This record gives sequence, C-alpha cells and structure tokens, in this order.
Amino acid sequence: MLEFDHVSYQYPGEDFDIIDQLSFRAAPGSFHCILGVSGCGKSTIFRLINGQLVPKSGEIRVGGAPIGGQKRYCGYMPQKDLLFPWRTVWENVALPLEIAGCLSKAQRRDRAEQALRDVGLEGCAAKLPRELSGGMRQRAAFARTMLAGCDLLLLDEPFSALDFLTRISMQEWLLDQWQRHHKTILFITHDVEEAVFLSSSVLVAARTPIRRLEEAHVPAPFPRTRACLARPDMAALKEQLIDTLRKQVTP
Ligand SMILES: Nc1ncnc2c1ncn2[C@@H]1O[C@H](COP(=O)(O)OP(=O)(O)O)[C@@H](O)[C@H]1O
Ligand SMILES: [Mg+2]
Repeated sequence: MLEFDHVSYQYPGEDFDIIDQLSFRAAPGSFHCILGVSGCGKSTIFRLINGQLVPKSGEIRVGGAPIGGQKRYCGYMPQKDLLFPWRTVWENVALPLEIAGCLSKAQRRDRAEQALRDVGLEGCAAKLPRELSGGMRQRAAFARTMLAGCDLLLLDEPFSALDFLTRISMQEWLLDQWQRHHKTILFITHDVEEAVFLSSSVLVAARTPIRRLEEAHVPAPFPRTRACLARPDMAALKEQLIDTLRKQVTP
C-alpha cells in the first residue's frame, strides 16, 4: 500500500537529513503506529507522504505508483482537529466533497450526515465545533478524513490532547472503525501503550535522523480489548519499547 524507498529529506537551513535513506512499507489493511519521542521527525514522515514536503532523494509509492503523479491517495488528520469554527459540523465534514466539486449541497449534506452517524455523532450536524467535546471533535475530524474516500489514512497524534478515559474509548472506537472499513492506517504517537494497543506492528523511530523504523510485531490478536494489555507478552513488549525510547532521551 505504502512504500518508502531510500527517502531523504533535509529542512532548509539545517545541515543534516532528518530523514536519511529511509525505507519501509505498510501492507494493505495494516494498522501501524509510528512511535518515537517528540521532535524525532515523525510528522515530517507524514508531510512527505501527503506531498506537503518533497523528498530530496528516494521515492514514495502508494498502491505501487509514485505519489508524484497521484491525487487524493491519502487522508490526513493533523495533530489538531482543525475544524473551521465558523462552519457547522456537517459543513466541516463535507469539506472534501466540496473540494471535489461533484455533488450538490443537498447530496453533500446527506453524505456528511451518514458519515456523522457512522462515528456516533448523529444529531450534531447543525452544531458548531465549539459545542462538541474534544473526543466528539476528533470523531468529526475523522469522519471528514473518511469522506475523502482514500484507502490510506495518516493520523498524527489524534488523541494526544484528550483526557485519559476519553483517549482509551477513542482508541477502542478507532480499532472498531478500522475493522469495519478495511483501511490502511498509519498513526503517529509518542505513547507506548497506545502504540501497543492499536498496532498490528509498531514502527519505532529509535533515533534522529531517522534512518530506519524498527518493526515490533504485536502478539495480541484482533479484535482487541484493553484486557490484552495485561498479557505477559504485551507487557514485555511495552517495557522493551520504553527501553528503546529511553535510550534516545538524555535526561
Ligand atoms: N519547517 C522546519 N524547518 C526546520 N526544522 C523543522 C521544521 N519543521 C520541523 N523541524 C524540525 O524537525 C524536527 C522534527 O519535527 P517533526 O517531524 O515535527 O517531529 P515529531 O513529529 O516527531 O515531533 C524537529 O526537531 C523540528 O524542530
Ligand atoms: Mg509531530
């Protein structure tokens, strides 16, 4: 589904490649968390996939073809939900359809309301984003990402601003969405437990510059509940990942 082939990127004004000859791949229908400490270059990887940044060398392919010649090959949900405060929830959610420009307003509203029902936000279509809780806003942003209709979803720390209980409900909710819609998901997080709970395998950015992503297979089968985190092999994986990340952070 997604392939990085010796991709390098250097920010203007920096004297090193923050992404250095990086190769990795994500299979169709997989769920990978990219785990790494803040500032290590995780979001840079997403900006390269969505075309906001252009690699200095190497090639990124989605569905076997270079991204250069493609349009609308990935849905991207940035770190902040970025709903427009002056637009109603449905008008926010319908934005990808509006940009595509092929449906009437009534059709767009229909599709948006259906997407909102799908994420458990029926009845919220006419509200403004400020009338929703943090978790509800993230679900609306997710509905908007889904309406873009892409098979590859890039979610950049979508739950990091939520309180703990909302965050764990949203994680369960996201796994359910993933299983129902058969998307390929890349999910950035710096939270080890979140990475272990969600991923089929975790891709660890163990150091900056990012030269490789170490893949750690997660042993618990899907569908998962939080009870799987108590399995000895899951607890061991969590500790192993914490160890790897701590080597990078010098106190
Ligand atoms: N536009 C930019 N110009 C120069 N350096 C940048 C720019 N954007 C990010 N960086 C640097 O690149 C590093 C990685 O950023 P980022 O990919 O956002 O990290 P992460 O998402 O892992 O927290 C950071 O150290 C940051 O300071
Ligand atoms: Mg980031």
